[in-house]
Amino acid sequence: MQDAVAYIRSKTGRQPRIAVVLGSGLGAFADELSDRIEVPYAGIPGWPASTAIGHAGKLVFGKLDSLDVAVMAGRSHLYEGYTQAQVTLGVRVLHQLGVRSMVFTNAAGGINLSYSQGSLVLISDHINLQGSNPLLGPNDDSVGPRFPDMSEAYSAAYRETAHQVAAQLGIALSDGVYAALTGPSYETPAEIRYLRTIGADLVGMSTVPEVIVANYLGMRALAISCVTNIAAGVLPQKINHEEVLETGRGVRDTLVRFLKALLPKL
Ligand code: HPA
Repeated sequence: MQDAVAYIRSKTGRQPRIAVVLGSGLGAFADELSDRIEVPYAGIPGWPASTAIGHAGKLVFGKLDSLDVAVMAGRSHLYEGYTQAQVTLGVRVLHQLGVRSMVFTNAAGGINLSYSQGSLVLISDHINLQGSNPLLGPNDDSVGPRFPDMSEAYSAAYRETAHQVAAQLGIALSDGVYAALTGPSYETPAEIRYLRTIGADLVGMSTVPEVIVANYLGMRALAISCVTNIAAGVLPQKINHEEVLETGRGVRDTLVRFLKALLPKL
């Protein structure tokens, strides 16, 4: 990790306190920043390349008016074969660079029947069904606690601010519990019924490892899902990745508007 930090420091002296991670089809926000310095993942030592279609692969430093922001345009996933350590490297590196607030975005399947395709949902809590945890293994107590509390993994203060900003902009924003699976196969209808029964409103294949590590490191986290499709078995139709990307592109402008207004308030 130190090599990655040193490499990025050699490219920019910027010290943003806030960073955004952009999920499938949601990469447009990075283009909104001014004074951009782009650091392609491919050049960063140890940084996993994002191989998923719809994911750019670069770290972008820039400004929203006077606010310094870092953006991870594209993330890596467990389903690509990456380890928990690899999929959370970005969060650890950003923390080392001085980031203390993380805003995650992702594409998710909508389990809650009140959601529609294209809905934006603030994640209120999560259920980790990935069968592993990024904090497994020896712990360095100087970095974070062995048994980190997760009772407010998604900052209540940030969520309140997000709702206020959304209301001001006239953007509909629901709340929901996100269940993380590894994928890459989409869920079966029976799995979706199970997830609904255990209290999940959304399902996806990312974000939870990153949020666990962000909390472990004492960072504040906020996460926004874009409901790119209604979950399996709800409608008499199949799910495909192209649809997921297309819906992501459809909400792009709304999400950009939302993030631009929200970040300065966090
Ligand atoms: N399931 C899991 N992950 C997803 C989905 C889904 O339906 N849509 C977007 N990411």
